[in-house]
Amino acid sequence: MESQGKAKQEMGKVVNFCIIGTSGIAAVHARCISRNSEAKLVAMVASTAVRADAAEKQYGVAAYDSIDEALQHHDIHACVICTASGQHLEPTLSLLRRGVHVLCEKPLEINVDRASQMIRAADAAGCLLGGVFQNRFSPDFLKLQEAVKANQFGSLLLANAYIKWYRNEDYYATSPWKGTLKGDGGAALINQGIHTIDLLLLLAGEVKSVFAKVKTVMHAIEGEDLGVCILTFKNGMTGVIEGSTALYPGYPERIEVYGTDGSAILEGGRIIEWNFKQSEAMALEVKDGVEGSGASDPMAISDDGHQRQIDDFVAALKEGRLPAVSHISALNALNLIQHIYLSAEQKREVEVKPVQL
Ligand SMILES: NC(=O)c1ccc[n+]([C@@H]2O[C@H](COP(=O)([O-])OP(=O)(O)OC[C@H]3O[C@@H](n4cnc5c(N)ncnc54)[C@H](O)[C@@H]3O)[C@@H](O)[C@H]2O)c1
Repeated sequence: MESQGKAKQEMGKVVNFCIIGTSGIAAVHARCISRNSEAKLVAMVASTAVRADAAEKQYGVAAYDSIDEALQHHDIHACVICTASGQHLEPTLSLLRRGVHVLCEKPLEINVDRASQMIRAADAAGCLLGGVFQNRFSPDFLKLQEAVKANQFGSLLLANAYIKWYRNEDYYATSPWKGTLKGDGGAALINQGIHTIDLLLLLAGEVKSVFAKVKTVMHAIEGEDLGVCILTFKNGMTGVIEGSTALYPGYPERIEVYGTDGSAILEGGRIIEWNFKQSEAMALEVKDGVEGSGASDPMAISDDGHQRQIDDFVAALKEGRLPAVSHISALNALNLIQHIYLSAEQKREVEVKPVQL
C-alpha cells in the first residue's frame, strides 16, 4: 500500500508513541514501549487534568487532558488506545484524521459497527490500525496453529474454548465502565473471553452458526458473567465456548482441538496435551506453568505478549507492512461475540454473517 510506504519514509529511527488512557493496561504498554530500542513514549493523554498530573508523576512523561494538546507539543507517530472499550472509536478517529497510526486494545470497540468506522477511517487516512491480541504471539499457540495447518491432527472434529475466570465484586464495582453495555458491550465474553475466542477462530476457521445462552449469575452488572455456546464451523466441525467471570477461583483459559489423527490442549498459553496416533508428529518442548493467565487477577498477565505486540507494531511501521494483528482480523472474534449475544437474546441458533465494512 502506498500510504504504508509513506509511513516508512517519515518514521526516522525512533517511533514516537503516545498512550491514550493512563491507568490499567496503559502501564503494561508504557513498559513495553520503553523496552523497544526503536520506540519512545513521548506523551500520554488522560481523561482529566488531575489524572494527567498523576500520570506525569507515575510515568515520568508529559501528560495532557486532550489529544490536540499532546499533538501540538510532540511529534507523535503512533498512539496506543487504552481507554474503556466503548471509548476507543472517538480518539481513534481523531488520531487517524491527523495521520497518526493507532494500535488499539481489544476489543477494537463494543460492536462491529463502531469498529468498522475505525477500519474505514484508517484505510482512508493511509494509516496503520492494529488490534491488540497478545496471545496470538504465544510460542505454544503458534506451535499449535502450525500443527493444525499442517494437518497433524488430521481433519478436526471438535474445537473448544473455555474461559472459566473469576472477578470479584470489587472488579466491577470500582470501574465505571466494566460490565456495562455502553462501556464494555457486555462482560465476560467480550472483555475476558475474547482473547481465547480469537485464538479458537484462528485454529478452527469461520463459524457458520451459533446457539448460545448467556446469563448474569453473580455480579451486579448489565453484561453476562456466564455464557455457553455451541458452534457449527463452516467446515462442518462442532465447537463449544464456555466463558465466565463468576467461577471461583478462576482457572487458566483452555483451548482443545480434537482431530481424526490426534488432539492437543493449550492451557494458560502452554500446550499441556499433545497426542498423535502416529509417532512422526512435530516434536514439542513442554514447559512448566502458564504464560501469565488473567484467570483470577487481571493484572497477573505477563508483559511478554504485549512486548511481542509492541515490537511487531514498531517493526510494521518501520518496514511499511501490516501489523501481525491487522484491523480486519481483529474483528473476527468481536463479530462472533455479537452473534452469540444475538442468539442468546433471540433464544435460537443464528447464522453468523460476515462483516460488511
Ligand atoms: N490485552 C489485554 O490483556 C487487556 C487487559 C486489560 C485491559 N484491556 C483493554 O484495555 C482497555 C482499557 O482497560 P483498562 O482495564 O486499562 O481500563 P481502566 O478503566 O483501568 O483505564 C481506562 C482509562 O482510560 C481513561 N479514559 C477514558 N476515556 C478517555 C479519553 N477519551 N481520553 C483519555 N483517557 C480516557 C479513563 O479515565 C481510565 O483511566 C479496554 O479496552 C480493555 O478491554 C486489555
